[in-house]
Amino acid sequence: MLSIAQQAADTISSIFAPVSTPAVKEADLAKMVLVLSAVVFVVVAGLLAYSVVRFRAGRGEQGTEPPQVYGSAQVEAAWTVIPIIIVIVLVLATGRVIHEVQAAPEPPNAVRVTVVGRQWWWEIRYPELGVVTANELHVPVSDSAHRQPTFLTLESADVAHSFWVPRVAGKTDLIPNKTNHMWVEPHQPGTYLGQCAEYCGTQHAHMLLRVVAEPPEQFARWVERQRAAAAPVDSAAAAGRRVFLGTACISCHTVGGTVATGRYGPDLTHLMSRETIGAGVEPNTRERLRAWVRNPDDLKHGVLMPAMQLDDEQLDQLVEYLLTLR
Ligand code: CUA
Repeated sequence: MLSIAQQAADTISSIFAPVSTPAVKEADLAKMVLVLSAVVFVVVAGLLAYSVVRFRAGRGEQGTEPPQVYGSAQVEAAWTVIPIIIVIVLVLATGRVIHEVQAAPEPPNAVRVTVVGRQWWWEIRYPELGVVTANELHVPVSDSAHRQPTFLTLESADVAHSFWVPRVAGKTDLIPNKTNHMWVEPHQPGTYLGQCAEYCGTQHAHMLLRVVAEPPEQFARWVERQRAAAAPVDSAAAAGRRVFLGTACISCHTVGGTVATGRYGPDLTHLMSRETIGAGVEPNTRERLRAWVRNPDDLKHGVLMPAMQLDDEQLDQLVEYLLTLR
């Protein structure tokens, strides 16, 4: 497990602190463009400033016209050719990075994930691994000796969203009735924060993402736990399970091994393995979970999950059951 301090350090989301192959390529390109632009700016602004100071009217000088100079083949050639060269360099460098990122071959051992954008959370499915989760994408760390990137298929169930985890890769939109693709390849373990980057409605700002990059053995253990059936319940949780199975929860949520097979909301089979609820709105603790189920709209206004009008006892029982879904 990562220490809290490490996690805090990893939460700084800057495109200039890339940890994943596509993000590194894009950050390098961005830095090159910035440096070139800075040089152009310094030269042009410097010449302008020099001219303004050097050739300003002196004290008491009369407003007579200075000598008029027309045409200089050398100067004109220079200011035509140099910008053309700069533009060609930018076009070639950008084209190369776009090609390297978009046409990257998908190795057979790649992890394949389908991400479905929804108002307002992320459904995350690993079809080949039989894992379904939400909002927190687990991927293996890839090293140069044994590369293992993760390829994402991006879809949307409702409106346009955009998948953006700045340290891991550039943005890619999730569009209804269109399938997009992107890939990530983190080189160091950590939790990297992201955010929906396309306005998608009331809770666009609360559609947070986490990419958890783990060493391959740890990732394999995570997959194993996610594939397991829901844990058996003791008598304290059994009452809560009856409440859960007796309400409309089951038409939107799945809990493996029960009659709850809804697909509209997040799969809850391993709910407690996630750090947050409501797509990053609150930490996933007993108290916050209870507040969430009591009235989701309190924590996330406009959320599509309704309050089930449970009384305090039913709520306590239900939360007791949810806490067993590890
Ligand atoms: Cu989803 Cu903005």
